[in-house]
Amino acid sequence: MSKKSVANLTEADLSGKRVFVRVDFNVPLNEAGAITDDTRIRAALPTIKYLTEKGAKVVLGSHMGRPKGQVVESMRLTPVAARLSELLGQDVVKCDDCIGDAVSATVSGLSNGQVALLENLRFNPGEEKNDPEFAKQLAANADVYVNDAFGTAHRAHGSTEGVTHHVDTSVGGLLIEKELKFLKGAIEAPKRPLVAIVGGSKVSSKIGVIKTLLEKCDKLIIGGGMIFTFYKAQGLAVGGSLVEEDKVDLAKSLMEQAEGKILLPTDVVIADNFAPDANAKTVSVKEIPDGWMGLDIGPDSVKVFQDALADCGTVIWNGPMGVFEFDKFAVGTEAIANSLAELTGKGCITIIGGGDSVAAVEKVGVAEKMSHISTGGGASLELLEGKELPGIVALDDA
Ligand code: 3PG
Repeated sequence: MSKKSVANLTEADLSGKRVFVRVDFNVPLNEAGAITDDTRIRAALPTIKYLTEKGAKVVLGSHMGRPKGQVVESMRLTPVAARLSELLGQDVVKCDDCIGDAVSATVSGLSNGQVALLENLRFNPGEEKNDPEFAKQLAANADVYVNDAFGTAHRAHGSTEGVTHHVDTSVGGLLIEKELKFLKGAIEAPKRPLVAIVGGSKVSSKIGVIKTLLEKCDKLIIGGGMIFTFYKAQGLAVGGSLVEEDKVDLAKSLMEQAEGKILLPTDVVIADNFAPDANAKTVSVKEIPDGWMGLDIGPDSVKVFQDALADCGTVIWNGPMGVFEFDKFAVGTEAIANSLAELTGKGCITIIGGGDSVAAVEKVGVAEKMSHISTGGGASLELLEGKELPGIVALDDA
């Protein structure tokens, strides 16, 4: 990493110091307020443990959801503090605010190696506005700043960017370091051939990443709902499938630029209705009848994609192949997830970039088999698009 890492800080730098760590504990909660996926909490443990073992007074800050600068009871970080206490095997002190006198008193009262968790940073309007006064107040409780919130590194907020202007030492955490190693490594110096798989429903949300990956990768596999915009661009009938009419010309020019690098599915699973129990059948992409919509890639496409992946050195996967939330239309996505798990076993570097594709590999139960599962949705996309993330740019240079 071209930025200073927490791993460069020694016990002498950290012991007895108040270290403010921005983490991304924006985890999903169910209606009863229980955490349904603690991946992001577990992903922050290496940095937290590194700091506690070196005697730091660790002050964690995170957002949850989008409370828009107001206190929203259901978005308090109380369940996160409880889960973190279990995972760390020590009580985490939960603060009721993120700045102010009570917080300062709690932080000053921490013993070396103790951990406190601030309340949802986005309860304060200064966070998303990147208000310098708010950033200053956060920094007032910090001798050292560590950003380990990869999932939020694409936001220039008070706790990700502003705070760095008011603390002498600002470094990246171990999770950020790992995310950059895999995601940046894959586009800047990949083990080749590099194959990218991009899925999801809309061309518009993936256009940036498709353009960058086209330049960097050896093959680009496209799946998911966005394929129908590409078929329309080729003059094929797509029935009632999802099409972004205003992106048809763009899809056409991407195909022309790609000079054969883009692989599209050859067959699709179509449904007579958008529902988990819809009637379904598999057809060639050239034979989609009126009144039917494509909801998954077919078995022939899976075979074509597996052949394309067979000799690859690195795979980046972002976005599902179909409507994997419906079991009937999850087969293509599951087959790709299983193929990637197998490829990892053969030495291929497999990187799953955020959001739905992570949910898909977890659903299939092969998450542990991948080389890297990103904790960032928007952040990993922006990184793959080649953008600089403000939360990382703001850190001290190595
Ligand atoms: C995420 O879940 O992608 C991050 O926590 C960022 O959340 P945001 O999109 O609300 O900024």
